[in-house]
Amino acid sequence: MRSSELNAAGNAIGSDLTIAVPRPDPLTYLEQLLVKLNTWYLRVCYPFADCGAGVSIHYSCEIPRQMALGIWIGKSVFLGKGVWLNVVDFATRSTPAILLGDGCAIGRNSVISAKNRVCIESGVLLAPAVLIMDHNHEFSDISRSIKEQGTTPGGTVTIGKNSWLGYGAAVVCGKGDLTIGRNCVVAANAVVTKSVPPYSVVGGNPAKVIRRFDQASDSWIRVGE
Ligand SMILES: CC(C)(COP(=O)(O)OP(=O)(O)OC[C@H]1O[C@@H](n2cnc3c(N)ncnc32)[C@H](O)[C@@H]1OP(=O)(O)O)[C@@H](O)C(=O)NCCC(=O)NCCS
Repeated sequence: MRSSELNAAGNAIGSDLTIAVPRPDPLTYLEQLLVKLNTWYLRVCYPFADCGAGVSIHYSCEIPRQMALGIWIGKSVFLGKGVWLNVVDFATRSTPAILLGDGCAIGRNSVISAKNRVCIESGVLLAPAVLIMDHNHEFSDISRSIKEQGTTPGGTVTIGKNSWLGYGAAVVCGKGDLTIGRNCVVAANAVVTKSVPPYSVVGGNPAKVIRRFDQASDSWIRVGE
């Protein structure tokens, strides 16, 4: 297509012309049915600590059945394509390690790996490809391969109510308690290694506060000016 044709097409789309929107591919209905069947199967056959009503779990998610006791899922939680939930040392624990609050949406290909506790409070939105981990691989012994050394004791991670983690964000907690406060925004590709106050926007690697909500002016203001 030449650039003049491309511009004409763009102008036509931008005008008030009514265009015929194509119907969705019928195969998407099949996918929706498979997601419903998969969710029903998991709720019936997996021993989750809890799995609330209205949950949707894509059939491509990786949630090993032997880890289900360590996973608590609230009501109306959405798990997109390819989400991986991993519970470390699942055989020896008596309380859930991964808690997904009511109405959370976990974007496709996100990974949540918990050894102690990763709690995602209600209403949190994770974009695609977000990583949340509360431990690391142990690497202190240089005479052995890292994969033989197991994992570090780690800490805990809490993502506060109604927050939003952008595409590719990583929240990594080597030790202690890392809390992202409520209604926070984590920018795309940010690497969060420390706690974040509520009502903040953080970005970069390591992530720093770039905006915060100012009660006095009732608006989000830039930080560091
Ligand atoms: C965090 C975000 C919401 C900020 O948007 P915004 O309020 O419009 O912010 P601005 O673009 O005005 O940027 C504000 C400052 O933050 C910086 N910033 C924005 N995004 C950043 C990022 N991902 N990493 C580092 N710094 C970032 C900007 O450079 C700017 O810095 P400056 O003040 O020195 O110029 C947005 O940049 C973002 O990352 N959105 C995530 C999109 C996404 O992942 N969507 C998936 C769909 S669920």
